[in-house]
Amino acid sequence: MTHDSIAVVDFGGQYAHLIATKIRRLHVLAEIRQPEDDIELFKKYKGIILSGSPSLSAFGQDSDYNKKIFDLDIPILGFCFGHQEIAKHYGGKVVHGGREWGPVRLRVIKEHPLFEGTPEVQQVFMSHFDSVIEVGPDFEELAITELGEERHRFAAIASDAIKRFGFQFHPEVDDTVFGEKMLENFVKNICGCKPTWTMEGLLSEMIEKVQVQVGSSSVLLLASGGVDSTVVAKVLGMAIGPERLHLLHVDNGLMRKGESETVINLFGRLGLDKNLHFIEATNEFLSALDGIVDPELKRKAVGDTFIEVFEREANRLGLGDCLLAQGTIYPDRIETGGSKRADLIKTHHNRVPIIERMIAEGRVVEPIADLYKAEVRELGERLGIPREFLWRHPFPGPGLAIRVVCSTGDINDIDDEKTARDIAKRYGLKATVLPIKSVGVKADLRVYEHPVLVHGECEWERLLEAAGNIFKSASGVNRCLLNLGSSFPKKIKPVRATVTKERLDLLREADFIVMEGLKKHGIYDLVWQCPTVLLPLIIDEKGNEVVVIRPVLSERAMTATPARLPEQFLEEIRYKILRLEGVCGLFLDVSTKPPATIEWE
Ligand code: XMP
Repeated sequence: MTHDSIAVVDFGGQYAHLIATKIRRLHVLAEIRQPEDDIELFKKYKGIILSGSPSLSAFGQDSDYNKKIFDLDIPILGFCFGHQEIAKHYGGKVVHGGREWGPVRLRVIKEHPLFEGTPEVQQVFMSHFDSVIEVGPDFEELAITELGEERHRFAAIASDAIKRFGFQFHPEVDDTVFGEKMLENFVKNICGCKPTWTMEGLLSEMIEKVQVQVGSSSVLLLASGGVDSTVVAKVLGMAIGPERLHLLHVDNGLMRKGESETVINLFGRLGLDKNLHFIEATNEFLSALDGIVDPELKRKAVGDTFIEVFEREANRLGLGDCLLAQGTIYPDRIETGGSKRADLIKTHHNRVPIIERMIAEGRVVEPIADLYKAEVRELGERLGIPREFLWRHPFPGPGLAIRVVCSTGDINDIDDEKTARDIAKRYGLKATVLPIKSVGVKADLRVYEHPVLVHGECEWERLLEAAGNIFKSASGVNRCLLNLGSSFPKKIKPVRATVTKERLDLLREADFIVMEGLKKHGIYDLVWQCPTVLLPLIIDEKGNEVVVIRPVLSERAMTATPARLPEQFLEEIRYKILRLEGVCGLFLDVSTKPPATIEWE
């Protein structure tokens, strides 16, 4: 069955995926497209939405996209940057100025189907520097915003004749109170999309597609026990039956404590253990990682080893010709799509060259490759997968390898310590820049920079404000950590370190303490993820590892805010972790993403 669908053109604004997610909740399929995609790719859609962007329309930034979309007889609605581009394209004018940020009051001045079922005066969310100050002859002004006596014009524009529309604000953000209604008005009333994209329908389509692709072959799935591969296992079980489904669970030595046991029990509970193959390959992964410091090389080593183990085991089991199934989900595909605007530029282990080759040969089965995480969980619920598995925190494919931070031990490019110190002092905190680097995102690029360690008594909100100010002013810094140790370190020294069994074992223990603590205190489900990380630092000559915990709140992992954890929880883990042999410090990561990322590498 084909579904009516909407293209969301991703100009790099942080909300493009949110637009797609919210449209999908209306049971209409929305897909992300790149602005330079071929015009042929757009013809199947019943509507197009142009997302916002960090670029400035007034200065013609990012204007080399495929403008042929404007020749299509398909309704187009732009938000923020997209709105300005539409205004400009049809003879309007955009200037740099008139900035609005946050919730503002919108007044609808002309009745329009886009605002059907919403009040004349309502709150919308704005985030822009540039403004439309004039529209072309076909367009009319639908809404303005009001701030006291001030009026901001062209907050919404429309040309019904040519079916082009624009909102300066973001209807996809929750702060736009009637945003979902506006999206629904566009998708259903203006584009005429029928809401056929439902979980139930999707599941039967998925099953049918798998049956057609697999034919009479067998399928081998690398089942990590994560949400995605578990849902895929269940879908495959339904599509081809448990006899032709082979699950390969590899203990790569990079997993959490007790993980393999838990996963094997789960597959038993799901009735999918008929052909469950368990491979212990710790040594193989450790030798592939031996001596590597660079995080991208670590990812590659883990990915390549997975493929080697997979090929060898498939042959050993006489499954050399079978298809490979993967739990790839929608963002994995988009992020590795090579977009110049992708927020997360990192190789996904399910898109390495050999897999790409197998995909070209039609040998890879990816039943949930069009779904977002929330949709995978919804599907999993329908399939009867126990809740505690569906709501597990995301865990990276390369596992603890990217949480064991490595170093050459000779970092000496710290250059803006004074700024960080001065800012921290204003909040009554001591500060020092750490001689280690971790990844962050700045202007959509992944960059390796230093964390700042702060120490002292400070209210949570003030602490976050201090961190924000440090990020704004201190160059070369992308993280802020609160020292949970009792005193401010006098001496911090980086040491050379790579991924070793000893370090992994230590991290596993620390991670276990944190995970158990979160569950015991009933906060596991409240945080999106809480990586525990090991840093090769000697503090005050005491030991050679520092543990960092990174609790975050997030919706889709594209952005994140630090999660505030109860004092008693912190006290308990502090007591336990600082007693682990070799651990000389414990820090709490209080950085937002951006400029930091969720993982450290
Ligand atoms: P970052 O660290 O980029 O992470 O903010 C965003 C989300 O992606 C996960 N992540 C990974 N997942 N392989 C994966 O399968 C990786 O190399 C990887 N790096 C980060 C991370 O856990 C978070 O949920």
